[in-house]
Order: sequence, then structure tokens, then C-alpha cells
Amino acid sequence: MRIGIGVLLLICMSVSPVWAEPEEIEKKGCRDCHRFSSEEKQPARGPDLFYAGDKFHENWLKEFLQSPKVIRKVGYITDPGFPSGNPEVSQPHSTLTHEESARVSTFLMTLHLPDYETGKVDDVPLSKGARAQAKMLFERNFGCIACHEALNLVGKVRGGVSGPTLVDSGLRLKPDWVFHWLKSPEKFLPRGRMPVFNLDDETAIRITKYVLSIRTKK
Ligand code: HEC
Ligand code: HEC
Repeated sequence: MRIGIGVLLLICMSVSPVWAEPEEIEKKGCRDCHRFSSEEKQPARGPDLFYAGDKFHENWLKEFLQSPKVIRKVGYITDPGFPSGNPEVSQPHSTLTHEESARVSTFLMTLHLPDYETGKVDDVPLSKGARAQAKMLFERNFGCIACHEALNLVGKVRGGVSGPTLVDSGLRLKPDWVFHWLKSPEKFLPRGRMPVFNLDDETAIRITKYVLSIRTKK
């Protein structure tokens, strides 16, 4: 009998899936600026979202959609030739109510890349020594700080703005996603502006953990 109900439930769910696209996506014109599938024509006005479930923490999405914070201070730029190209001028992002945001976030979390490998980065934090080394890689060896905001020793924001801010990125980005981005950004963005560093896995994991540890609050 129990099994019967389980099967019935499964059938009902597949008829009316909980992950169906919520109407807000259409109503609020999200597709004017974002792609929700790699097959959609690139609107090139905002970041791709067809791998949102791989990239973001759901809680961050829920918050962001209700009260968006600026992540890319110079606006979203799609022209790999920037700064000669023109950036899309930043404008306040559309906002959703609590309920709308919950529905849209649930939906976004179902969007994944095919053949995406998870489990690359464990959640053991870097030791003090390893973190200091990773900070050197981030600031000196690879110069990430030239393009990305991070925090200095006393917690002040510093760094370049040609890339998205990495302050509090641990609340926003999933560890495996950052790892894959560092290893092969072209999987997500065919013509990006960030240098490809050819990192070995160990270094990529170390930098990933460092990036995600750049927190304003402990
Ligand atoms: C007028 C264009 C426009 C519309 C309409 C729009 N967005 Fe955005 N969206 C952007 C831009 C530009 C950014 C980048 C903002 C930043 O980096 O500060 C962004 C960022 C985001 C992000 C974070 C992505 C990332 O990689 O940082 C999410 C999630 C998002 N939008 C979802 C939505 C949803 C859901 C809707 C519809 C309710 C929507 N957007 C409507 C332009 C738009
Ligand atoms: C020359 C400038 C530059 C350097 C150096 C650079 N980046 Fe980036 N990075 C970017 C840009 C620009 C983007 C946004 C994607 C794009 O437009 O190509 C980006 C995107 C990212 C993202 C994804 C953020 C998001 O929300 O989508 C992460 C994580 C990242 N960079 C980390 C790093 C790390 C770690 C280093 C050093 C190993 C580094 N970057 C070096 C310019 C740079």
C-alpha cells in the first residue's frame, strides 16, 4: 500500500512538476537580459543563468532577487575587447517579493549543465599557513586582485572592479563552480575576459577555498 502511494506521488509530480518555470520569469521580462537555457539566443545584457543551480547558493539567490546588490560595479560587460567596447550601463535590478523570489529561486536551482562534475572541493577550510600562501597566489602570482575586489587585513574592501566582486562570494558561489570556473571558464562563458591560468587541481582548490573565505562577517 505504502509503495502504491509513493508511485502515485511520483506520477503526480511528473505530471505537474514542482520545477516548472514560474510565471514571474515571463511577466518580469527576465529573458530580456538573461538566458535560462543554452539554446536561447544570447541577449547579452546580463549573466547567463542556465547553470544557476551549479553556481549559486539558493539562500543568496532568494535574497538577491528581493534586494539586489551590485556585483559588477562597472556594469555587465560582454565585449571581450573591453575597455574599448561599451559596457551596459548599470541600472537598478528588478526586484521580486518574498514569495516570487522563493518560486524563482527554486526554479533557478534546477538549472544545471549536463555532465557537470561535483565533489571536487571538500568543505575543510584552509589552515592558516595554506591560507596565507593562497593569498599570495591571489594577490601576487596571479594578480586576481587587479580585477576583483577582496578584503585587506583590516577588512577594508580593495581591488579592481573589471571583474565581479569576490567579497562575500562564499555566501553566493558554490565551491565546485568556482573550481570549474578557474579551470575552464569557457564551459560557462565562451568569450570571457578573464585570463585562463592552467591551474593544476590542487592549486585551483586552494584558490577556490581562499576566494570563498573572503568574508566581511565571520
Ligand atoms: C534589464 C536587464 C535585466 C532584467 C530585466 C533582469 N536582469 Fe538579472 N541581471 C542583470 C544584470 C546586468 C545583472 C548583473 C548585476 C551585477 O553584476 O551587479 C543581473 C544579475 C542577476 C543575477 C545574478 C547573476 C550573477 O551571475 O551574478 C540573477 C540571479 C538575476 N539577475 C536574475 C534575474 C531574474 C530572475 C530576473 C527577472 C525577475 C532578472 N534577473 C531580470 C540584468 C537584468
Ligand atoms: C584581467 C582581469 C582578471 C584577472 C587577473 C582575474 N579575473 Fe576573475 N574575472 C574577470 C572578469 C572580467 C570576470 C567576469 C567574466 C568575464 O567577463 O569574463 C571574472 C570572473 C571571475 C569569477 C566568477 C565570478 C562570477 O560571479 O561570475 C571568479 C570566481 C573569478 N573571476 C576569480 C578569479 C581568480 C581567483 C583570479 C586569479 C587566479 C582571477 N579571477 C583573475 C577578470 C579577471
